[in-house]
Amino acid sequence: MDWGMKNRLSQLIQPDGRCFFLPIDHGYFLGPTTRLEKPGETIRPLLPYADALFLTRGVLRACVDPRNSKPIILRVSGGTSIVGRDLSDEGLTTSVEEAIRLNASAVGMSIFVGSEHEKETLLNLGRLVDECERYGIPVMAVTAVGKELEKRDARYLALSCRIAAELGAKVVKTYWCADGFEKVVEGCPVPVVMAGGPKCETEMEVFEFVYDGIQKGAAGLNLGRNVWQHDHPVAMMKALRAIVHEDATPEEARDIFEEEKRKGEP
Ligand code: 5RP
Repeated sequence: MDWGMKNRLSQLIQPDGRCFFLPIDHGYFLGPTTRLEKPGETIRPLLPYADALFLTRGVLRACVDPRNSKPIILRVSGGTSIVGRDLSDEGLTTSVEEAIRLNASAVGMSIFVGSEHEKETLLNLGRLVDECERYGIPVMAVTAVGKELEKRDARYLALSCRIAAELGAKVVKTYWCADGFEKVVEGCPVPVVMAGGPKCETEMEVFEFVYDGIQKGAAGLNLGRNVWQHDHPVAMMKALRAIVHEDATPEEARDIFEEEKRKGEP
């Protein structure tokens, strides 16, 4: 692997082999979704606890101070909306030249395996990898399910993650699942990071699935709504960070969360 690629990857995956990415890209199809109405204000207190930010070029330029940032994973796919016909009908929205101009450490795009637009999104991934390899930029593939959240079982997730890695993704973002998540990780030869999906009922639910996923081999998180839609997002970041980087148990994470809450952390 060339120096540039290695250097960028090491900005994302920390020396312990783990990572905690903070995604705030949701507006690219959801618009000003709850608690991400003003992305700059949402992320400011959370930034110190994230290893990288996953976002679009628009929010990056408008809402993130270039003098005080974290490594950037630039979302480069889109072209659909929650009120449109089909969320899987995504294309590439942002050039690799833009990613270089913005000093991105990686780019990210969604693939929709099993959807009407499976082939197009997979070919887009191949093309993006081709171009990014030329410049030493890692690609994170997002195994997206659109509105069909019930698709998230081990068989489907393993299939999607493996295809993403085969096409050249250097990191794959997927969902945790209760049964067989280890098979998802084992079948994917590059680091797997977990998203959270819609906000869970309790923080303990989040700590438990994150802990389970990490113990089964996930490299870390790309987890958004369960952090920034929570009433105590900083306390959530600190607790989750301990699970990712210190192998804290769900109970230890809850103690960290409660302690931060008691101290009055948002
Ligand atoms: C949105 C995304 C998000 O980055 C990903 O789903 C993680 O966010 P969350 O934890 O809120 O699901 O790709 O399209």
